[in-house]
Amino acid sequence: MSEEPSQTGEQSPEAPEDSPIIKKLMELDGVGEATALRLYENDYTSYESLSIASAEELAAATGLGLAMCHKIINSAREKLNIQIITAEDLEKLIQSRGKITTGSSKLDDLLGGGVPVGEVTEFFGEGGSGKTQLAIQLAVNVMLPKEKGGLDGNPFIIDSEKTFSPQRFREVAAAAG
Ligand SMILES: Nc1ncnc2c1ncn2[C@@H]1O[C@H](COP(=O)(O)OP(=O)(O)OP(=O)(O)O)[C@@H](O)[C@H]1O
Ligand SMILES: [Mg+2]
Repeated sequence: MSEEPSQTGEQSPEAPEDSPIIKKLMELDGVGEATALRLYENDYTSYESLSIASAEELAAATGLGLAMCHKIINSAREKLNIQIITAEDLEKLIQSRGKITTGSSKLDDLLGGGVPVGEVTEFFGEGGSGKTQLAIQLAVNVMLPKEKGGLDGNPFIIDSEKTFSPQRFREVAAAAG
């Protein structure tokens, strides 16, 4: 390559107002070209960086009004589908999600009441320790009606070993009623 590398290494060689970044910033609520340029010049060049900024910090950095900064930040969060909630609301959300019983009260106790819904739980152990049987049991329990401790739901199993046995699934389901 014959071109000299740019000093900053990151700056776009084209005029900022033609840059795709400016165009993207202008898609935010209340952001015209002048505001977009102001954001850009102060290194707010992505929805991500705006979504984690506080309105006060953005206002101080750019000189834009506080109300405008709130609007821009909320708009960036909406674009990224980010919801910011308080710790109190998060606690309520976690409590409302519920748990799936493993079918063993001892194991449920170890897990704080069962396998939490909406989270990833990993079971590990040596061959033959019961991981696959537990996965089958959990899938069956998800299907049970709520009055039987289930979720009235539709489980799906991703079998990375190609060892899923429909027959075993049927047996466990029959035992669960
Ligand atoms: N079809 C079946 N009927 C009755 N018991 C079974 C059946 N399949 C497995 N088991 C019992 O369940 C136990 C746990 O087996 P499981 O397949 O869940 O182990 P695993 O932890 O998944 O092992 P691996 O790491 O080899 O996959 C085994 O000791 C086995 O005896
Ligand atoms: Mg297994």
